Amino acid sequence: MDLSHLQQHQARVNDFLSCQLADMTINDPRLHQAMNYGLLLGGKRIRPYLVYETGQMLGVDLSKLDHCAGAIEAIHAYSLIHDDLPAMDDDDLRRGQATCHIKFDQATAILAGDALQTFSYELLCQADLESSLKIDLVKVLANSSGYHGMCGGQALDLAATNQHVSLEQLQQIHHHKTGALIHAAVEMAAICAGINQAERELLKKFSAAIGLAFQVHDDILDIIGDTQTLGKPQGSDIEANKCTYPALMGLEQAQLKAQQLIDDALHALDALPYNSEQLKDFSRFIIARNQ
Ligand code: IPE
Ligand code: IPE
Ligand code: MG
Ligand code: MG
Ligand code: MG
Repeated sequence: MDLSHLQQHQARVNDFLSCQLADMTINDPRLHQAMNYGLLLGGKRIRPYLVYETGQMLGVDLSKLDHCAGAIEAIHAYSLIHDDLPAMDDDDLRRGQATCHIKFDQATAILAGDALQTFSYELLCQADLESSLKIDLVKVLANSSGYHGMCGGQALDLAATNQHVSLEQLQQIHHHKTGALIHAAVEMAAICAGINQAERELLKKFSAAIGLAFQVHDDILDIIGDTQTLGKPQGSDIEANKCTYPALMGLEQAQLKAQQLIDDALHALDALPYNSEQLKDFSRFIIARNQ
C-alpha cells in the first residue's frame, strides 16, 4: 500500500486532537495527562483514516470531517484503555508503552476512558455541520460504541473467555467489539456526504467485511507477531484463553478467512460509482500489516 494517505490522515487527526485537548480547562492535571496518554501516544489511526478517505472519495472536504475523525478515535482510545484493565484483558503494554492503568492507576484509567468517551460527543456537537446531520452522527456513534456495538461485543468477548463458542458466535463477538466502530467510521463519512441508501448499503458491506478481517488479523498477529513490533504483548490471547479465529479454526484457515473477507470488501467497492482505489489498497493493507 502507498502509505502516504494513511500518514497524512494520521498527522491531520493527531494535530486536531492535540489542539482540542490542549484547549481544555484543566481541572485535574492527572486525569488530563491520562487522557493525553491514552489518546495521543501512538496508534495507527485507522478509524480516522476511514472517515477521511471515505469522505474524500464521496467528495466531502477534509475540514468537514475532522470532528468525526477525532470523535471516533477518542471512542477507540477509551475502548483500549478499558480493554487493558485487570478486570478485562489485564494487559500491561499498549502502543509500546505501559498501559494507562499501569502508568497512572486503575481509577484514573477508568475515568480517562469515561472522559474520552464524553469528549467524543462534545467534538461531534462542535462540528461545523447542520444540526440534523450532527444528530445522525451522534446516533451512529452511540449505537456502534454502546450496548448494540463495541460494549456489547466486549461483554460477549469476556463471557466467551475460557468457553467454547461456535464460529457463528465468534463472528458476532468480532462484529460487535471491533466491526461496529469500523462501520461507524465509514457510515459517518457517508452521512456527511449525504449519499443515497443503496450506496450506503454497499459501503456497509465493505465496512462489515474489513471490520471482521481487521479483528481476525489482530487475532492472527497475537500468534505470529512480535511484542516489539505490535507494541502490545504477543501471546496475550493464548495466555488468557481467549476465543479467537485461529483458536477455533487454526492459523491457516483463519488467514484464508481474512483473505476471503478482503475479497468481499473489494467486490463491494467495485459496485460503487466512485474511485475507490485508495480504499482498496487500504483493504489489502489490513491483512498485510504487522502491527
Ligand atoms: C486494536 O485496535 C484493538 C482492536 C480493535 C483489534 P488497533 O489495531 O486499531 O489499535 P491502535 O489504535 O493502532 O493502537
Ligand atoms: C479489543 O480486542 C477490541 C476493543 C473493543 C478494544 P482485543 O482485546 O483483541 O484488542 P487488543 O489485541 O487488546 O488490542
Ligand atoms: Mg479484549
Ligand atoms: Mg485486549
Ligand atoms: Mg487482540
